[in-house]
Amino acid sequence: METLEGMKRTHHCGDIRKTEVGQEVIVCGWVSRRRDHGGLIFVDLRDRSGYVQVVYDEAAMNEGTFHKAESLRSEFVIGVRGKVRARSEETVNPKMETGDIEIVCTELRILNKAKTPPFYIQDGIDVDEKVRLKYRYLDLRRPEMQKNIMLRHRVAKVMRDYFDRNGFLEIETPMLCKSTPEGARDFLVPSRVNPGQFYALPQSPQIFKQILQVAGFEKYFQIVRCFRDEDLRADRQPEFTQLDIEMSFISQEDILTMMEGMIKELFQKSIGVDVPTPFERMDWDTAMDKYGSDKPDLRFDMPLMDISEYVKGSEFKVFNAVIESGGMVKCIKVDGYADIPRRRLDDLVKFVQIYGAKGLAWIQYSEEGIKSPFKKFYSDETFAKIAEATGAKTGDLLLVVADKRLVVDTALGQLRLEMGKERGLIDPDALRFLWVVDFPMYEWSDEEKRWKAMHHPFTAPRDEDIEYLLSDPGRVKANAYDMVLNGVEIGGGSLRIYNAELQEKVFESLGLTPEQAHQKFGFMMDAFQYGTPPHGGLAFGLDRLVMIMAKCDSIRDVIAFPKNQSARDVMSEAPSEVDEKQLRELSIRVSAPKKKDKNENKDN
Ligand code: AMO
Ligand code: AMP
Repeated sequence: METLEGMKRTHHCGDIRKTEVGQEVIVCGWVSRRRDHGGLIFVDLRDRSGYVQVVYDEAAMNEGTFHKAESLRSEFVIGVRGKVRARSEETVNPKMETGDIEIVCTELRILNKAKTPPFYIQDGIDVDEKVRLKYRYLDLRRPEMQKNIMLRHRVAKVMRDYFDRNGFLEIETPMLCKSTPEGARDFLVPSRVNPGQFYALPQSPQIFKQILQVAGFEKYFQIVRCFRDEDLRADRQPEFTQLDIEMSFISQEDILTMMEGMIKELFQKSIGVDVPTPFERMDWDTAMDKYGSDKPDLRFDMPLMDISEYVKGSEFKVFNAVIESGGMVKCIKVDGYADIPRRRLDDLVKFVQIYGAKGLAWIQYSEEGIKSPFKKFYSDETFAKIAEATGAKTGDLLLVVADKRLVVDTALGQLRLEMGKERGLIDPDALRFLWVVDFPMYEWSDEEKRWKAMHHPFTAPRDEDIEYLLSDPGRVKANAYDMVLNGVEIGGGSLRIYNAELQEKVFESLGLTPEQAHQKFGFMMDAFQYGTPPHGGLAFGLDRLVMIMAKCDSIRDVIAFPKNQSARDVMSEAPSEVDEKQLRELSIRVSAPKKKDKNENKDN
């Protein structure tokens, strides 16, 4: 192999333009494509800036160099000295940024060879993600992935600049901590020097950032890794990055405004998009009632509508029983879809069942008249009234669910998203920001039969609801807010409790005895006794933000080395078994049966 000795790169491939014509340049990179035209060889050379075409002309160069060029294969690493020349008009490639020039090679050095890669290093490939993750270094070499990772860098840079300029300090908090409850399971780390004891990796720096307010830093931010052992989805990873923020002596309004300013600057400076501020606000009750979601996608409308009053008191038992037991009948209107195929309706019945609905009904206001599974139970007049109330015209479809409020809202909210996609109602370029405010303080856990904090237990209840903390937790609203973008929760936060007594009361309402509260959060309660300023903050999911900015469907596409759906890193094969010796040192005995085949899980 050759070296770059005496050959110093002068340009990046993608940066060369017509202004360089006639100059000698030195470029380095990977062979993307080699086309052999007999006495002429063309190579598309790629580095992180883009591509440039290099020409090897047998007639114009020494035999050895041309011979070397013949041996080039995809992904060989080379250095090229050559002269830039303008391409003739008919050979200009308008698809390439460097498409009106090429480099005529005078010296070629092969710096390294490469095996044939398992997939083409190019955009838009159709390759199983398993393979992409196993060969992540090759996947990351693809221009679209390079762009995503570079965008991520820029995003972090703009954030740091914004917060620095606004008087925030970036302060690191520990990775080995006592568990911080954010509602997910902890990743535990055994302590060798404290046998039988464990650290938890932080689910977020929540408690530390609050203690930094007690410590008087006033404005804190951190771009920080968080760890949550939860089931994975397209927008969830076991380790992910937050932009975490906390401020003292502020109102909720101050926080929202500061964050809108950050988002505006971020979109402007990193992708050149102007985001109008202030953002729309919607209280949680309205979001649930109108869109069946606490993170409504406002890129299209299609609200949920209550038609209980029109369908009650009839012979149709399904609706009657629901309404009589305190439930409701709601629908969404899908414009121009009265001719939905019957088979699709059957699929949609199954779809809503995933979200707990017992069934789905519909009204097709079709040209031939009304079609509905409950047609025989209602008069034409009722169907006309429903049409008037919902704005349904001939050609439109109503999809109807009857159940308890939460089930109806959730099922129809999901169905709304499904219909929005199916009917092409979502503008892929739209950016619809929204603050969802006035979240409930608690949600009921059927599984655990107790009230749980909807955000986290340090969130301040609204002053006027404090009296109901113990007597009627369900009605207590919190000073909590989420930022939603295109139906994705990109951030969330709250004003915090800063009074030790109120904090104790909230722990009590969550079913913690004073002893349990002390054991878990004693250090925080202690800190709160020494002069805690009123404070609040929030955290953004940085991966989710970058995912949307990069127009990707999964946060895995904006994380250099993500885990797969089974929380595995298939490239390095983590997690893995460890030596008996390591376990002994940690005083750990593993009760899980040993894997027979070490590679069994490798590709999951
Ligand atoms: P929360 O739990 O809402 O709040 O998290 C803040 C934001 O982090 C993102 N996020 C995730 N992103 C990827 N993978 C995950 N598994 C994941 N979990 C959460 C979301 C979410 O909005 N300490 C509080 C914030 C505060 O109160 O200041 C917190 O962590 O975009
Ligand atoms: P059933 O009496 O269960 O056969 O239901 C008769 C029709 O009522 C079904 O075909 C559905 O269209 C509709 N239906 C049943 N349950 C519900 C529900 N929970 N919400 C809306 N429609 C329902």
